[in-house]
Amino acid sequence: MGEDSLTITDNRTGRTYDLPIENGTVRGMDFRQIKTSDDDFGLMVYDPAFTNTASCKSRITYIDGEKGILRYRAYPIEQLAEQSTYLETAYLLIFGELPTRAELSQWMHAITNRTIIHENIKKVMDGFHYDAHPMGMLVSTVAALSTFYPESKDIYDSENRLLQIHRLIAKMPTLAAFAYRHSRGLPYVYPDNDLSFTGNLLNMLYKMTEAKYQPDPVLERALDILFILHADHEQNCSTNAMRSVGSSEVDPYSATAAACAALYGPLHGGANEAVLRMLAEIGSKDRIPEFIKRVKDGENLLMGFGHRVYKNFDPRAAVIKDLAHRVFEVTGRNPLLDIALELERIALQDEYFIERKLYPNVDFYSGIIYQSMGFPVELFPVLFAIPRTAGWIAQWLEMIEDKEQKIARPRQVYLGEDQREYVPIARRDGPASGRTSAVA
Ligand code: SDX
Repeated sequence: MGEDSLTITDNRTGRTYDLPIENGTVRGMDFRQIKTSDDDFGLMVYDPAFTNTASCKSRITYIDGEKGILRYRAYPIEQLAEQSTYLETAYLLIFGELPTRAELSQWMHAITNRTIIHENIKKVMDGFHYDAHPMGMLVSTVAALSTFYPESKDIYDSENRLLQIHRLIAKMPTLAAFAYRHSRGLPYVYPDNDLSFTGNLLNMLYKMTEAKYQPDPVLERALDILFILHADHEQNCSTNAMRSVGSSEVDPYSATAAACAALYGPLHGGANEAVLRMLAEIGSKDRIPEFIKRVKDGENLLMGFGHRVYKNFDPRAAVIKDLAHRVFEVTGRNPLLDIALELERIALQDEYFIERKLYPNVDFYSGIIYQSMGFPVELFPVLFAIPRTAGWIAQWLEMIEDKEQKIARPRQVYLGEDQREYVPIARRDGPASGRTSAVA
């Protein structure tokens, strides 16, 4: 066995094993040969929440958590945020290369002309309470799209797949905007194909009685940059859901609904909403020390801080922090920014956060910008889901085309009871049963 290998001695049997090391990993299945007897199942690897498990090989996004590096198809996120657009970045993530002028024009045309949704989706929307959370509405209506495009089940037809990809990217803003308009009791605004991807989203969200909505160019570009920053992030929780659910060969709408549901959680994409609620709860800079104490006592999390991968800084947070000042020139300064900046200053010098390597992540400042742009707090995770759809699709495609992948089905460590005999109900009550209620 070459030097790229691991030699393991099983002290239970004294036998040694040489396991090959490839790409800094050892294959989990290589541990199954390590047995104490012929009928032994063999060793598994136990890794709750997959904290140290590579579930796939990918060429889409590269993150270096120690150096704060994030690259989409090897292009630094800072260069894409400065020079690209969301739709161009979506093309890059999905197809692997920056598009030529003709490819970009064709891509944009295909998406622009798929923004309208089936009229019956409005009936689905109307079925929700006025105060339904828009993320709950998005999860439901993305899943509903699978019923309008049953041909999307044929995931191995590349032409059909491309059509569904156009539809998914194009219709997410429409679903998001319709959910928002429903929550405000406002009439739905249809897409305007003359506008950009983000300009059209602002149009469908905010157009009132004017003949034609004119998006503010600074806000339109700021939203486009935020969408670039949120487009993908390798094997995060919602991408894992997209790949895992997609591995059953379900249609891409149903897999995307699962990814949306994962993103909804406050520890993931719901964190931007939770940050704003946290800053509002703190209320003023002088109340920060009392809040920090509650965090250190384990009563609260400092939302928008910490990351499974980034352990020095989240490069997206740095770009967003700069972007905030450009937005505030148009919208006026958000007073919550002062609380956020002071919270960051205090946290970054506090041993509790330093030793746990807790720094602002992408969600810490994005919510402040979104609020200044007039978005309601509950819409923030939806504004995360719209751009992340491109990343989910890119990862889903890579999973489908990866010959090593199959339906995801982890193992478990069983610690329950050994076999027991069925007890008729007549013998389950009373002291003889020796049982207290199993219900907590
Ligand atoms: C996103 O994965 C991705 O790439 C996600 C994302 C993407 O683009 O897809 O980057 C987007 O989801 C960003 C993260 C948004 N979530 C939040 O801001 C919520 C607050 N953050 C935490 O919940 C937490 O930091 C996580 C979930 C983000 C990461 O958690 P880990 O890696 O599982 O770390 P952990 O929970 O094991 O924490 C390690 C220690 C613990 O303390 P001890 O038990 O060692 O004493 O750090 C503490 C945690 O209690 N800790 C925090 C904290 N985050 C971790 N303490 C206070 N406030 C926090 N925010």
